[in-house]
Amino acid sequence: MLSLRQLSLASFAIGQSLGLVWNTYDGEGFPACYNVTEVHNATSVDNIAELVKDAASRGLRVRAAGKGHMWYDTQCSDEPTVIIRTENVNRIWDFDLEAGTVMVEAGVTFFQLADYLHVRGANMGTGLVNWNISIAGSVAMGAHRSSLRENSAVVGGVHAMDIVDASGEIRHIERDEDDDEWLAASTSLGLLGVVSRLKMSIYPDTKIWAMQETLDEKDVLDGDIDALIGPYATANFWWWPYKRKFRWRYYENVPLNESDQEGFQSTFSVTPVEAIAARTLMDSGKYLPSSNWLMEEIFFGQWSNPNFREKTTNEPIEKWPVYGYHYDVLIGGLYPDQRPVWDYDLRGYTLELAFPMTRANEMLKRVRQLFDAEAKKLIFMTSTYRSGINIKFGKPHKDFLGQVTYGTSDGEDWSKGTIMFDFPTYRPTAGDHKRYNEQFYINLANKLVDEFPCRPHWTKNTRDVFKRAVKNLDKNNLARFKAIKDQYDPNGVFRSVVGEIIGLYD
Ligand SMILES: Cc1cc2nc3c(=O)[nH]c(=O)nc-3n(C[C@H](O)[C@H](O)[C@H](O)COP(=O)(O)OP(=O)(O)OC[C@H]3O[C@@H](n4cnc5c(N)ncnc54)[C@H](O)[C@@H]3O)c2cc1C
Ligand SMILES: *[C@@H]1O[C@H](CO)[C@@H](O)[C@H](O)[C@H]1NC(C)=O
Ligand SMILES: *[C@@H]1O[C@H](CO)[C@@H](O)[C@H](O)[C@H]1NC(C)=O
Ligand SMILES: *[C@@H]1O[C@H](CO)[C@@H](O)[C@H](O)[C@H]1NC(C)=O
Ligand SMILES: *[C@@H]1O[C@H](CO)[C@@H](O)[C@H](O)[C@H]1NC(C)=O
Repeated sequence: MLSLRQLSLASFAIGQSLGLVWNTYDGEGFPACYNVTEVHNATSVDNIAELVKDAASRGLRVRAAGKGHMWYDTQCSDEPTVIIRTENVNRIWDFDLEAGTVMVEAGVTFFQLADYLHVRGANMGTGLVNWNISIAGSVAMGAHRSSLRENSAVVGGVHAMDIVDASGEIRHIERDEDDDEWLAASTSLGLLGVVSRLKMSIYPDTKIWAMQETLDEKDVLDGDIDALIGPYATANFWWWPYKRKFRWRYYENVPLNESDQEGFQSTFSVTPVEAIAARTLMDSGKYLPSSNWLMEEIFFGQWSNPNFREKTTNEPIEKWPVYGYHYDVLIGGLYPDQRPVWDYDLRGYTLELAFPMTRANEMLKRVRQLFDAEAKKLIFMTSTYRSGINIKFGKPHKDFLGQVTYGTSDGEDWSKGTIMFDFPTYRPTAGDHKRYNEQFYINLANKLVDEFPCRPHWTKNTRDVFKRAVKNLDKNNLARFKAIKDQYDPNGVFRSVVGEIIGLYD
């Protein structure tokens, strides 16, 4: 019943219930929940409803679990909790390309749906996150890709959903921006219940053209960022602060007959030799900043060539632009002969905050100032992540708790979209696992949260960042969300530390 990788024995005392730790996809040492009493592999939506009813009747908390693709100990509350795994509840049905919709269950992952659609001549558009992640888990937590022009939030492609509430009732919610129930369900943080079925938008399949260029830092910091990102189906930057460069990646739909190339992207695949070299160098970077400078130099060089292979031959693709099928180019997956970085103990911390586009240049310049302030002390900070600091973008989507919502009482104009500062960093394998100049990262997060009206990504920040960021959330939206939460879950069966921090159980 227990998945060994995700579950480790934490503590038990005589006469008390067994408290187990539920881990993130990173496994042992990366807790998502501290007080798990049972783990169930749900077998159907009705079974999810029965499991919720049963746990609630025994006074236990419940959290759904998809693929564990989150970073910190924020999935559950710290009270005894039952985990309901959705992985085996993964039917796809009612494919209708003419109507432009398909139905999926809670455990369906992006790659599962992409494969299903591709053989039927369809794709799911631009609201893509990553391959081995559940679509429902992404919708629950407000996850997104990067686009100002097209849907970037995954929920942007959702027409309707079913949520199992705390009484085990299955509630159906249709997309309707005038309905508080929809505005709460759209980014629910799993606090209304288990997102169990989704009606998703689909489109006739296309190929995608991917291009990448290198920009000087000043051309972005002082540049027209909207003009660089806005025109494309999806686009993002990767920032290399030590090199003072940006990589600019952009993608566009092209007809299926535009090219025979079948490019397949991989962001996470690595060879053992590369992985061990990177890990050794970055572990030494905990003490020796020069190792990190060198690593940024190496990563920057590697990330200049396309991180794509030709799918039919498995040969590296050497030249931009790259063409391929929709999902293969936008997400891809693992190369058949390689493993993901985390299998080699290359793990990360992260921080992600969303800012209004109207303040994009100001925000990036502020981050640069904070880097420069360290440099004045002769501390030169770098990106210790293989693709650099990820700068993403979000088309507005109205709801109560999403990162890309608009019309909030902070007086900021969020209607032009958002820019996300997503700063993954290497987590040293040794000692206290703190990074070189750890305090810099904490100060950076605190200053951005205090100085800008920014919003946290709901699975990419620590409890401390959430606590500090609460002041930036719209009080009225929180109150309206709470009113719906109280209908779905009056006793806090689905509570999480995130829900607690944003004040839903006070
Ligand atoms: C390598 C990697 C890349 C990522 N890339 C991106 C990205 O590009 N953009 C982005 O926005 N995010 C990204 N994420 C974050 C990811 O999209 C979210 O953390 C997402 O919620 C993970 O889904 P999961 O299926 O793994 O759920 P889990 O990690 O198992 O759960 C995450 C949270 O969602 C809740 N939950 C899960 N399923 C349901 C459900 N059916 N109903 C209600 N609540 C549920 C859980 O209780 C938990 O609180 C990435 C994460 C990783 C590890
Ligand atoms: C639940 O699924 C996981 C992963 O597929 C598996 O490791 C575990 O043994 C399953 N538990 C039960 C009770 O079937
Ligand atoms: C997806 O995640 C599961 C764990 O939930 C793992 O067993 C499987 O190998 C992963 N698949 C890929 C292709 O990474
Ligand atoms: C688990 O929950 C119990 C009951 O609320 C609490 O006493 C205990 O401290 C919790 N354990 C952990 C590890 O949080
Ligand atoms: C692709 O197909 C369209 C319509 O069938 C045709 O007009 C176009 O010339 C084709 N393009 C190429 C590059 O073959």
